[in-house]
Amino acid sequence: MNNITSYVSKNKERFLSELLELLKIPSISADSAYKNDVLLTAEFVSESLKKAGCDNVEICKTEGYPIVYADKIIDSNLPTVLVYGHYDVQPPDPLNLWNSPPFEPVIKNTDLHPEGAIFARGACDDKGQFYMHVKAIEFLISTNQLPCNVKFMIEGEEEVGSTSLAGFVKNNHEKLANDVILISDTGMIAKDVPSITTGLRGLSYVEVEITGPNRDLHSGLYGGAVANPINVLTKMIASLHDENNHITIPGFYDKVEELSLEERAEMAKAPFSLEAYKKALDIDVVYGEEGYTTNERNSIRPTLDVNGIWGGYIGEGAKTVIASKAYAKISMRLVPDQDWLEITNLFKTHFESIAPKGVKVKVTPHHGGQAYVTPINSIGYQAASKAYEDTFGKTPIPQRSGGSIPIVALFEKELKSKTILMGFGLDSDAIHSPNEHFGLFNYYKGIETIPLFYKYFTELKMK
Ligand code: BES
Ligand code: MN
Ligand code: MN
Repeated sequence: MNNITSYVSKNKERFLSELLELLKIPSISADSAYKNDVLLTAEFVSESLKKAGCDNVEICKTEGYPIVYADKIIDSNLPTVLVYGHYDVQPPDPLNLWNSPPFEPVIKNTDLHPEGAIFARGACDDKGQFYMHVKAIEFLISTNQLPCNVKFMIEGEEEVGSTSLAGFVKNNHEKLANDVILISDTGMIAKDVPSITTGLRGLSYVEVEITGPNRDLHSGLYGGAVANPINVLTKMIASLHDENNHITIPGFYDKVEELSLEERAEMAKAPFSLEAYKKALDIDVVYGEEGYTTNERNSIRPTLDVNGIWGGYIGEGAKTVIASKAYAKISMRLVPDQDWLEITNLFKTHFESIAPKGVKVKVTPHHGGQAYVTPINSIGYQAASKAYEDTFGKTPIPQRSGGSIPIVALFEKELKSKTILMGFGLDSDAIHSPNEHFGLFNYYKGIETIPLFYKYFTELKMK
């Protein structure tokens, strides 16, 4: 590919300032107070695709937030790559833990990013990463080097479960027809250790509510004589893991794919320092399912975690009260071949069955999705691998991630194509956390690597 590096270095400042503008819009899909901003972001994205030279740019309405579509079809005999990303972001709270406001992006140096990183909500997840694709296509179109057809589908509801996208994909098979799907919404092992994500975990997200007495009670007058919903809830939650940190829900592991010892040995070859891991998190020891390493626990094994728990008095000082209700939000990360709806039902049945007399239980499923794995012998994987070899001078390592992009399994089912996950974030970039950031090195390297994927994918496909 001709002069991609010089194109990037010539346009560095502009590439950065455009992304900073995008990051200033608080597109928080979870919070309806930001509805207008989410819609404005869709417009920003569509404008940016137009400016990059794409055709058929469309803001497709849905029942939720719109999906931005665009394409550049140069020849129907050439392969087509469908790029997916999301323009919505996670809520930024707790705000007081941010060193600078989440929607006022700033560039700061860090130990891992001495050449600078952009600090803002969405910098890495996923505005910075999908915008690399917008700049990559700009380069390819403006220098007349686009080797294949490209379609874009950038949604605004990924962080809340991609509810509208599922229907959109089902109803638009032809519009979205492609030979491979390309996504930058994951990470890489380190700046000098490129990797390609070959797996994503599935997800089942539920909310539980325990109701005891019909009103809050004086804890002196009633304490000890009625079931306290918070005591009950915490006990029920504690019982969901046994002493080896196995999940106790009957049937939970029935369909879990067990990796062979060879596969696990292969996984263990990926560079990883447990000491550095613990140091980065300020913990003395790691914790998890007996019999598995840290990297196995967070990728090939299913988990159950409380994401939030509340009830009773949490204001200043003390209040002696037995709350009428207690709540928790619980997520289960799933692996092949667990079915998320089946797991949700197993959870519900089990959780209801372990409630003691004296309380009522309500389990409300939120969203979920299936796990995904992609083979390393596909043309798409090979093309991605060659692209990284060119820009990083190293063969990327295949790695299964613990995160979820629930819609990816549905893409394969509906559109019958494989997804290639070329992520450029680092685990330390603090996505979903305060002070999320994205390295400038990673941003520019992504823009340089993506065009090579198109080139090699087309070459391999046309062979
Ligand atoms: N981009 C992330 C997922 C991710 C990050 C996968 C890093 C692998 C490595 C995505 O935006 C995300 O946060 N997904 C959610 C699920 C969604 C339904 C809210 C997740 O994994 O919690
Ligand atoms: Mn994401
Ligand atoms: Mn996310």
